[in-house]
Amino acid sequence: KVKELLAEVEAFNSNVAKDVEEFRIRILGSKGQVKALFDDFKNVPNDQKKEFGKALNELKQFAQNKLEELKSNQKKEVKSKSESIDMTAPALEKDLGARHPLSLIRSEIIEIFKRIGFNVSEGPEIEDDWHNFSALNFPEEHPARDMQDTFFVEKNPDIALRTHTSSVQVRVMENSKPPIRTISPGRVYRNEAISARAHCFFHQVEGLYIDKNVSFADLKQTLLYFAKEMFGEDTEIRLRPSYFPFTEPSAEMDVSCSICKSKGCNVCKYTGFLEILGCGMVDPNVLENCGIDSKVYSGFAFGMGVERIAQLKFNVNDLRLYSENDARFLSQFK
Ligand code: PHE
Repeated sequence: KVKELLAEVEAFNSNVAKDVEEFRIRILGSKGQVKALFDDFKNVPNDQKKEFGKALNELKQFAQNKLEELKSNQKKEVKSKSESIDMTAPALEKDLGARHPLSLIRSEIIEIFKRIGFNVSEGPEIEDDWHNFSALNFPEEHPARDMQDTFFVEKNPDIALRTHTSSVQVRVMENSKPPIRTISPGRVYRNEAISARAHCFFHQVEGLYIDKNVSFADLKQTLLYFAKEMFGEDTEIRLRPSYFPFTEPSAEMDVSCSICKSKGCNVCKYTGFLEILGCGMVDPNVLENCGIDSKVYSGFAFGMGVERIAQLKFNVNDLRLYSENDARFLSQFK
């Protein structure tokens, strides 16, 4: 019987606390099997008492040692689990987001104009006909309105998604007195088929300067300053005559293509120059429409697409990349 119990004790193994405690009660408890054998001692014949007693003590000792061992194993396990968390290990790097390329360029444009005294103005993306077209000298039923394919929200009276942020400049002129120096960044919408070169929305920064004696030379110097700040000191600009209903005279501005300086490139189609903005002297009709005396004041205006500038700065060849949210594209602008 002692031998049987010894074998059972030897075979037992567990690191589950509940099982070990059950084992202790069953074997060594006050009503346990070892106790029962000790109680039996008096019934053992005298000549076997010595041998039986010795075996019984050994069994008890063995069971106690086993129990100690199991308990200390349990403690070790708890300890080694907590030791596996290394509190001194360097923290894992968390992936930080990146600013959107359009956001980066818009900020850069704003900073450049802030340095020469321009403030920032904003207006609504859903505009009435007056602020988007009529005040800007787009005559009713004039083909000039077709220049900018418009998303109409309502007809008669016309409400539309603004096609340019010139609408914001109308609001500024209506609500403040010259001198005015303001730039209007914002999203604009045009009903165009989406491709690598066109989208149904894009971002503009338009500028307006109105004061006494503002001349075309002021416009040209302001734009040259901008081009050099944006694209580098050795950038050249070129003005070509153009047409906008709200400016007279009007021009389009090209900058020298820095990407193709050495070997020629696809971005400017090997011509060495790239168009980046429209500009001109504010038409006197527009000033009068907005309550500014055109006999006292004159001004210039310009408007550029942020996508186009970002395209040149970052060599982006497809407009659609800006709005597809592909992390492989976006994460390059950290
Ligand atoms: N509003 C014009 C456009 O959207 C840009 C422009 C602004 C041109 C100011 C001349 C003067 O294309």
